[in-house]
Amino acid sequence: MSKIADIKKSLKDIIDPTSNKAFHETKAIKHCGIDESTNSVVLVIEVLEKNPEATKKLTREIAKVVKIDLGYSGVKVEFVQAKVEQTKSKTILIASGKGGVGKSTVTANLAYALMRLNKRVAVIDADVYGANMPKIFNATDHVIMGNNDGKLYPFEKDGVQMISTEYLVEKNRALMLRGPMLNKVLKLFFEETLWNGEIDFFLVDLPPGTGDVMMDMKDFVTDPKMLLVTTPQANASHIAIKAGFAAKDLGQELLGVVENMSYYEVNGEKHYIFGQGGGQEVADELLVELLAELPIVPSDNSIYKETDKAGILYLNLANNLLKLLK
Ligand SMILES: Nc1ncnc2c1ncn2[C@@H]1O[C@H](COP(=O)(O)OP(=O)(O)O)[C@@H](O)[C@H]1O
Ligand SMILES: [Mg+2]
Repeated sequence: MSKIADIKKSLKDIIDPTSNKAFHETKAIKHCGIDESTNSVVLVIEVLEKNPEATKKLTREIAKVVKIDLGYSGVKVEFVQAKVEQTKSKTILIASGKGGVGKSTVTANLAYALMRLNKRVAVIDADVYGANMPKIFNATDHVIMGNNDGKLYPFEKDGVQMISTEYLVEKNRALMLRGPMLNKVLKLFFEETLWNGEIDFFLVDLPPGTGDVMMDMKDFVTDPKMLLVTTPQANASHIAIKAGFAAKDLGQELLGVVENMSYYEVNGEKHYIFGQGGGQEVADELLVELLAELPIVPSDNSIYKETDKAGILYLNLANNLLKLLK
């Protein structure tokens, strides 16, 4: 056996106290060399966490093996810290001035687009009065289960997880709650839901306008980002601007504006049936970008395929957002 292989073999069972794993399990020995002039061993060792206590202990153990067991005169160890992938989830609130502009449609399709870009996504349907995410996910009959501690298991489809206030009430009933109770429901979603694995993006479908739910976000999200959805019509854009300013006042960072139902395309020609410019006006007023103009798509199925024209536009939107959030 070569001298290097011999050294590596002798060190392989040493345990990194910060990961509790042996060197051979974590492939901790990143470099091993011998300085012939001084008859000493030079090592680069990767540890999970580079703390002084652990590296001191490891240096002693390594020196014992290298000097006493193997008979070298000296040893020089450099420790490097393993790069742990930082998965810090981001929360994007999907808001609008008025209802019916496609906030939920945008939320669900954006969730799918991010999933298609290999992000782990969870949708929180916090539109307490008009929850319809189960309908969009074709999962109205799903029954949410909880564990013995009262924590909820989210619904999951195509790798996208989702929880909705609709699951907390009897079929065809609306949730009728005032402020303090709303906060309890939000707590269930944000703190007492057993999300499957690490989540990159939480998309929160807010109720339209500027109500309790929007104001309560501060209790659950430390760095909220927001997307504002509007249609081209003046009556929608006018209120969207107000919602945008309210968000800014609440410290919710506005990422940009999405104009939904912008046009109807026939034979490659765009017809602006609801007028033009509403989304751009909102973006200009709020000093942010108009991130997408999405077509009117007559369809029962609100989640577009990856290959649909609208599906591609949603992928673009998701890519834009990823760039903004880098
Ligand atoms: N781009 C679109 N083209 C056609 N219909 C749409 C589009 N976006 C939304 N809709 C439809 O409009 C209605 C309202 O959309 P929804 O997403 O529920 O709005 P909101 O959540 O803002 O109330 C739904 O029936 C939805 O299917
Ligand atoms: Mg909705």
